[in-house]
Amino acid sequence: MTHSHFTSFPPRRIAAGGLLFLAALTAWAADKPARAPSSARAAAHASVQASPPPMGWNPWNAFETSVTEAKIMGVTEKLKQSGLADAGYRYINMDDGWWLRRDADGRLRIRTSMFPSAAAGGGEPSFRPYVARLHAMGLKAGLYTDIGRNACSQIWSGGSGNLPEGSVAEREVGVMGFQEQDMRLIFGEWGFDFLKVDACGLADFAASQPAVKRGQFRALAPTMVRGRPDQSDAAQVESLYARLKDAIGAVRPQGDYLLSICTWGEASVADWGYKYGNAWRTSADISATWKSMLHNFDSAASRPMYAGPGHWNDPDMLEIGNGEFDADHLVEARAHMSMWAIISAPLILGYDLTKSPQSLIDIAGKREVIAINQDPAGNQGVTLMRDGDRQVIVKSLAQAGHKAVALINRGAGNTTVTVPLSALNLAPETATTVRELWSGRDVAPVAGAITMALGPHETALLLVKGRSVLGAGMYVSEMPGRITIAADGRATLARPLQSSWVAAQINAAPSGAPLTLDGAVFGNGLGVLANSRFDLRLGGEFTRLRATVGELDETRDKAATRTLIYRVHGDGKLLARTSSAGVARIDVAVKGVQTLTLSVENPETASKPVAVAWADARLER
Ligand code: GLA
Repeated sequence: MTHSHFTSFPPRRIAAGGLLFLAALTAWAADKPARAPSSARAAAHASVQASPPPMGWNPWNAFETSVTEAKIMGVTEKLKQSGLADAGYRYINMDDGWWLRRDADGRLRIRTSMFPSAAAGGGEPSFRPYVARLHAMGLKAGLYTDIGRNACSQIWSGGSGNLPEGSVAEREVGVMGFQEQDMRLIFGEWGFDFLKVDACGLADFAASQPAVKRGQFRALAPTMVRGRPDQSDAAQVESLYARLKDAIGAVRPQGDYLLSICTWGEASVADWGYKYGNAWRTSADISATWKSMLHNFDSAASRPMYAGPGHWNDPDMLEIGNGEFDADHLVEARAHMSMWAIISAPLILGYDLTKSPQSLIDIAGKREVIAINQDPAGNQGVTLMRDGDRQVIVKSLAQAGHKAVALINRGAGNTTVTVPLSALNLAPETATTVRELWSGRDVAPVAGAITMALGPHETALLLVKGRSVLGAGMYVSEMPGRITIAADGRATLARPLQSSWVAAQINAAPSGAPLTLDGAVFGNGLGVLANSRFDLRLGGEFTRLRATVGELDETRDKAATRTLIYRVHGDGKLLARTSSAGVARIDVAVKGVQTLTLSVENPETASKPVAVAWADARLER
């Protein structure tokens, strides 16, 4: 067992004198016409229900295609009666398996043996009674479809008795070719509030696929190949979701719906998902094992800058209650819940609640943990430290000086984790309170640090209330929910990035290494690729931006330094332009600015990625 990991944290700040300023040339006025930056945020749909991560229940993990209306209603009753609905779990989402076929006039026909209430009216089967029943219970209703012609179950759930029936055309139940008609039916006539849109139709129906060869399905040349970004046509996939969003918008112009994109992290969905969806899956399907849970967690935890109010990274549904997270594994169930809460993931339960002991209901329904997930600032937690099996994630909450901190033991042994208050950007001298939410215990900081012993697979979830070292100001690294990476402002690279690189990271370089400029390590800041641009939603709350910028040591060639151009625009107007071949300072008034845009340009053509830091970037009030 090891102790005291102060050294795991990058020093907060390296003295300015230690920085080497190379040919910094700063012009605070527009010395040439400003390139008007297009706002990255413009397209995200303004859903009134979308702000916090969605919460609810989905039958897939418990029942797959053997779900029935009776099973859903049984779970729904339990959700109400147990208090989970009151705690926020309000979306009851149907998953794959509900179709019987697509009729000759294009209308989707419901499998009424699965949903008997759909046949009640005697006319065309309709989900209206089912949706009305959920609405009458104060709940929301969700449905499922596929962006291609066919659904996942048709290729992956071979033994199921609940697959679409009829001719090849009748079994084409996905939205492709029927976007407008299906959205009128689902959001108009039936009145659903939520739609999960899967993508097997784009990936799994190649001409070479045996079922396609046998004539069971029409071939569709894949636009998405799992694990092969180079063979996926991200622009084409994006355009299909864009069209679907338009089709929903025509029925629901107020934006009162949620759209959940399910391309399993493929087709660069993080770059465009926020424009159309409220959540997008970041990985393949979760299973009820510790290993799978961690894998899915990591796929979303590494991308805090992509999430924010109304648009969330989705590591998939919760497995609490299933497999390695059942009533015999309460430590693991609490850890899973803590992890999804701190990274602002959708909280969609996926187990048969009718069989649930109170111990699991208590975990899913823990109000203080849910409050962290649903915090109105919408900041996804940021990894502060990862050292073998130990990981510390911090989420800045809406209330100034309040932080949620997850101390995670990913491993099967005992360990101890220490977090200095300074690493949380909190002043050590003030009366800081720390409460562990699962145990309800107060943990007094000792010598300006919080130390906790963790058992195997244990996560401690802390609510820390202190005072920010910046007073009323904030580091940009503390406000990921206000950041939008401009999809069209991303670096265009000749070759795709190494898979472990993330184009924009908080408190880390794109490679994941510490933010290092000329040998100096910075604890706060953003690491991005050159020729990128991102927006900060300031809402007129701040007065000054200060930052230290430069090419990160990991890509910088000391023998041949290149000059980069850093620009700051406020609501489209150029506020500052700095061109520098080394480390430079940005200090600019931003009073009244709603949207601040930070961009860095590499005027030369680069054959390799150029990584840049906006180090120590902070906003003052
Ligand atoms: C895909 C999705 C799952 C589930 C199944 C249904 O695998 O990723 O979440 O919807 O399809 O077939």
